[in-house]
Amino acid sequence: MTKNKNVLEWIEEMKALVQPDKVVWIDGSEEQLKEIRNISLACGEMEALNEEKLPGCLLHRTAINDVARVENKTFICSRKKEDAGPTNNWEDPKEMYAKLRRLFDGVMKGRTMYIIPYCMGPIGSPFSKVGIEITDSTYVVLNMDIMTRVGTDALKQLGDVSNDFVRGLHSKADIDEDNRYIVHFPEDNAIWSVNSGYGGNVLLGKKCFALRIASYQAKNEGWMAEHMLILGLENPQGEIKYVCAAFPSACGKTNLAMLIPPEVFAKKGYKVWTVGDDIAWLRPGPDGRLWAINPENGFFGVAPGTNIKSNPNALASTRKNTIFTNVVHNLDDNTVWWEGLDKNPPKNAVNWKGEKWDCTDGSKGAHPNSRFTAPAINCPCISSEFNNPQGVPISAIVFGGRRAKTAPLVYQARSWEHGVFVGSTMASETTAAAAGAVGVVRRDPMAMLPFCGYHMGDYFQHWLDMGKKLGDKAPKIFNVNWFRTDDEGHFIWPGFGDNLRILNWIIDRCEGKADAVETPIGYEPKPEDINLEGLDISMDTLKGLLNVDISLWKEEVAGIKEFYGKFGDRLPNELKEQLAKLEANLDK
Ligand code: PGA
Ligand code: MN
Repeated sequence: MTKNKNVLEWIEEMKALVQPDKVVWIDGSEEQLKEIRNISLACGEMEALNEEKLPGCLLHRTAINDVARVENKTFICSRKKEDAGPTNNWEDPKEMYAKLRRLFDGVMKGRTMYIIPYCMGPIGSPFSKVGIEITDSTYVVLNMDIMTRVGTDALKQLGDVSNDFVRGLHSKADIDEDNRYIVHFPEDNAIWSVNSGYGGNVLLGKKCFALRIASYQAKNEGWMAEHMLILGLENPQGEIKYVCAAFPSACGKTNLAMLIPPEVFAKKGYKVWTVGDDIAWLRPGPDGRLWAINPENGFFGVAPGTNIKSNPNALASTRKNTIFTNVVHNLDDNTVWWEGLDKNPPKNAVNWKGEKWDCTDGSKGAHPNSRFTAPAINCPCISSEFNNPQGVPISAIVFGGRRAKTAPLVYQARSWEHGVFVGSTMASETTAAAAGAVGVVRRDPMAMLPFCGYHMGDYFQHWLDMGKKLGDKAPKIFNVNWFRTDDEGHFIWPGFGDNLRILNWIIDRCEGKADAVETPIGYEPKPEDINLEGLDISMDTLKGLLNVDISLWKEEVAGIKEFYGKFGDRLPNELKEQLAKLEANLDK
């Protein structure tokens, strides 16, 4: 399929290591994918769903010990330990290669090795980059086909001589938890993943390439790879402004990216268009502004909680050619179900573990991190710019997370440097998207804690450098928190579609159309500038949501100091100054 010697030599080397019975190059054709679907059904990796209700859809269940990204088994093996930094697991690449070679040695005996050439970003875009993933899993092939642009087009994009492609090697091996490793070698452009068959651990184009490896490349090449959604907000005059937003996993990026405006706004002509729901690659454009593409071609979304009210666009995206992972299988009509889909759990059903499930026994039928893999073209609100090779110009960058208290509904950073400070100190309560305890507050700078492929202090410096390059054309930076709770633990802000009210203020600020109030932490809206039309929320409640509690923020400062302490002399001075300024503001 290619004459590229760099590719062919690497494939030969990997073949000698894993010793497959058979080798199949994925060309991206519909005929070949059909064949692979059949193989996947025949070996039981996938089950076919109701062709009338869910045409082209498949169901997959992972092993019970393999349901989320495993951050403690994820490594950044740069040559020097300090280049991986204090937030990543590291081992000497020589030792890690030796250990992994033992695990990969002959691992594909009796199996087929699939070679998936894929392109992250639109074919032909100057932003795009090519990867090749070797795998023994048809689940991976079929998911990669939805999430990326696979096949001959990707090889064409690479060309016959380039060596600039990410080498991904994956084997499910025995799904042995104790020998599960997700390993990145940034200096070699390589990712090796073994003993998992779950999403982000094995769809190597996603977190492994498009964030961990790409963030490292981006620092060296002068661009940015970020854990951000991209949306276009259209106003009644038909003008569209683009916003990027970084939230940790399972904090509502997909929902915000596909937001449906509340009725009063929809009637006036407001619309939201989805460019991406998880990852953004950003570069300064010829006009000096920051432009973004979505490197992905599909959505790997969290299923539970997705329903016709919370996210009708995501739900519509999953009605055909979608892969469901770890949801409930409704045996009556061969469809799928998850908690929060509707109030009618199926009576005759199998849970995510593959066991007969009694919906009245109090157990969850779908895993909390169960997923849908849906093609972007299925999305009713997909942006007309989705495939634009030049990307879209970004007006605002929004950070956010889950905080029961502390962070107000929205505030704006005073400058790019202050915005980098705000992003670098982000904190959020943990979710089921990664293995480990749920609901614990942890610092997650720019929502990149599990995804930054190099030293986080250098990453902060790179953000500051990008700001200098962009100058007064840099996007404005904001922070939001949809998740404030009252004393009984209920969410105060309705969220979902009503978040448009906040996006409108953000765009007005970017356009110089709205005023702001100075607070110790940054600029906040005047409460009357948030349009509450048609919403049952009082001015007092809104004021409460915007309140900055000085004593909580003093605790926050202590937490930030402790966190910043990790970065030693790689913490940029600008950020130390920002922290000192916050502390002084709180003492005023
Ligand atoms: P995410 O995780 O929720 O951070 O996008 C993706 C994954 O687990 O593969
Ligand atoms: Mn994500």
